[in-house]
Amino acid sequence: MRPPALLLRTFAAALTLTVAARAAEQRGNGVPLASSDRTAAAAAPSPTPQPTPPGGYPATFVLPQEERALVLDATSKDYAAQPGEQSCTFTFRVTNTSAADIVITQIRTSCGCSVANLPSQPWRLGPRASGEFSIVVDLRGKHGLLHKTAMIDTERGYKQLEFRVTIPPPDPRDEMRARNLLIAQADRQAVFRGDCAQCHVGPAKGKLGRELYVAACAICHADEHRASMVPDLRALTPVPAPEVWRALITHGKPGTLMPAFAQENEGPLTPAQIDSLVAYLSKEFAAENTARAAAAPASPK
Ligand code: HEC
Ligand code: HEC
Repeated sequence: MRPPALLLRTFAAALTLTVAARAAEQRGNGVPLASSDRTAAAAAPSPTPQPTPPGGYPATFVLPQEERALVLDATSKDYAAQPGEQSCTFTFRVTNTSAADIVITQIRTSCGCSVANLPSQPWRLGPRASGEFSIVVDLRGKHGLLHKTAMIDTERGYKQLEFRVTIPPPDPRDEMRARNLLIAQADRQAVFRGDCAQCHVGPAKGKLGRELYVAACAICHADEHRASMVPDLRALTPVPAPEVWRALITHGKPGTLMPAFAQENEGPLTPAQIDSLVAYLSKEFAAENTARAAAAPASPK
């Protein structure tokens, strides 16, 4: 039997390697990731270095002499993704400038995160014909520089292209929101427990009336970043009657994310707090909304 310390070290070394490989992948530094890519590249005909011919063909062109005329609008493209963008599409234009047909059998991408779409497969390009294909890149869960390659396989050779996407880091607040939303979807009362309570319960403690509304309700209902299913309480039609406010605060809305606030329903609010909230919402709050609506410029007819 091996001494446990050695086992541990072997395990730690294996772990370090995995982590390093994953870090390299996340940096997207262009190292082929899947081992199958490497095998594929090795199996392909070895590219002979070609001087750029007078016609200005790209140096990456590795097809036999008679097929040099397969020309791309660019062999390398870049894209800067916006925060939150889920995918992006590169469109390449390819022209057969030769006098013979060229048959593109497939386009292989260097990672599972990108997919090439051809007009047909195989794709036959007649003499002087040109056409477009696209590569769709899945950006979910990625950030930093994503540098990938693709191979255009033809019946008589292949040609390489590359594309790079810079992806901004995710906003930590968006991640937190998404996580909280999942927790609330499983249990709408979770918002009053554990870590959630510091924002959703703590500030409401001991408060009454308007202050209570701001601490307990406006946190969800009046936040500019709130999720789309959270309605603006100032714009509800019809304007809720006092009993309606009371029922919603006491029981929430089953089957949605609107939690029940009454202590009898495992909520944080005492009967006195609920009374003060119903009074505020059906008087001052309602009056404020009427005044706002009157002051707002009439919408153009
Ligand atoms: C955790 C976030 C959250 C908090 C806190 C919250 N609500 Fe809601 N509320 C919601 C969501 C989500 C909906 C939409 C429910 C749906 O999908 O119909 C909603 C809906 C409502 C509605 C409309 C119900 C309807 O008939 O469509 C009212 C009124 C309401 N809430 C009042 C309140 C009041 C008053 C408070 C404070 C005591 C409050 N909410 C606190 C999330 C919240
Ligand atoms: C750091 C303060 C904070 C904590 C902690 C927090 N929330 Fe929130 N929550 C907010 C704010 C602010 C909003 C208003 C929307 C926004 O800005 O994301 C909100 C909105 C919500 C909404 C309404 C849907 C939406 O995204 O607009 C739900 C549901 C919710 N929170 C559930 C939870 C749950 C469940 C937890 C605990 C797992 C939690 N929150 C922890 C501050 C917090």
